[in-house]
Amino acid sequence: MEFINQLKAKAKANKKTIVLPEGEEERTLKAADIIIGEGFANIILIGNPEVIAESKAKYGLDNIEKATVVNPLSHDKKEDYINLLLELRRSKGLTEEKAATLVEDPLYLATLMIKNGDADGEVAGALNATGDVLRPAFQIVKTLPGISVVSGAFIMIMKDKEFGDNGMMVFADCAVHPNPTASELAEIAVTTGKTTKSIAGIEPRIAMLSFSTKGSAKHEMVDKVREATELAQKMAPEMKIDGEMQADAAIIPAIGKSKAPDSEIAGKANVLVFPTLETGNISYKLVQRMAGAEAIGPVLQGMAAPINDLSRGCSVSDIVNLVAITATQAAGLV
Ligand code: ACO
Repeated sequence: MEFINQLKAKAKANKKTIVLPEGEEERTLKAADIIIGEGFANIILIGNPEVIAESKAKYGLDNIEKATVVNPLSHDKKEDYINLLLELRRSKGLTEEKAATLVEDPLYLATLMIKNGDADGEVAGALNATGDVLRPAFQIVKTLPGISVVSGAFIMIMKDKEFGDNGMMVFADCAVHPNPTASELAEIAVTTGKTTKSIAGIEPRIAMLSFSTKGSAKHEMVDKVREATELAQKMAPEMKIDGEMQADAAIIPAIGKSKAPDSEIAGKANVLVFPTLETGNISYKLVQRMAGAEAIGPVLQGMAAPINDLSRGCSVSDIVNLVAITATQAAGLV
């Protein structure tokens, strides 16, 4: 994939450190070996050093010994991280006892490393559910200034090159925020536009999806998307954003022309913003499985440091690709 190779080249020129908290997991170890070999990120593996050392012979990993290994149960910075966690979460009722337990959880430890400046980004989720990866990130790293909601975008590489820009589209939110308000949905549209430009490398044409096109149906759910469209247009007047529109009006030129003749986006959208997590998550999985699209992500947007989540069904190359995206985000090159 050309755009991933471009990201790797950018990341290599400004090498960052990515922590992989599922450091004993087979696909993660194999991916770490490839990443170190290709040289586009430094890798920290969290896990039992003996298990990680055994992986060299077990899976034939030539580069893995160049990874930094941190044993979550005993390492030099444990006390520092307990204190940092207490400082951040005491007001939320966190006790010293609970903090001492949480820092031994690799997912909490990884986010504390980022907060403390010991790592620049994180990729996890080969073993853990999305919610478990996200919760420590939300609690410790938090959102970027001016952003209230983290969301997840997928870069979809379609087999049919008629869609989007030569087959490339971006879908969001497919991973994080179950039921956004109109203003949160507007924020999701604008952050997805930024991701589209910076990571997918294409100029966004954003369709705000609903079951109605330009007032063809009346319902409070349609009102939410219409309000979100207006807010997003005000938040980013330089971005091409239009809605509300149905999926066919967004992506099929003839239908776009007939249902929304005045729209610059209808029929030509390369970014689809879904009204809820249900619709986004179901849609990306159907397009991936039934249309054979490649789905890269979710790329998490709006977090104060790059932390990205894998699907538990991920392959080794999915992990390598997501680390390339994360390392590029960490280098501020996107
Ligand atoms: N953006 C930023 N911060 C958030 C968000 C968000 N979208 N959601 C919650 N938070 C913050 C809260 O403000 C809170 O911070 P605080 O403790 O400092 O006050 C903290 O996160 C925890 O908030 P809760 O309301 O307790 O959130 P909860 O832990 O219940 O859930 C979560 C958050 C895990 C993201 C939940 O919304 C979730 O499970 N989402 C669905 C994830 C998922 O399963 N996706 C589908 C699979 S992904 C795939 O298929 C690729």
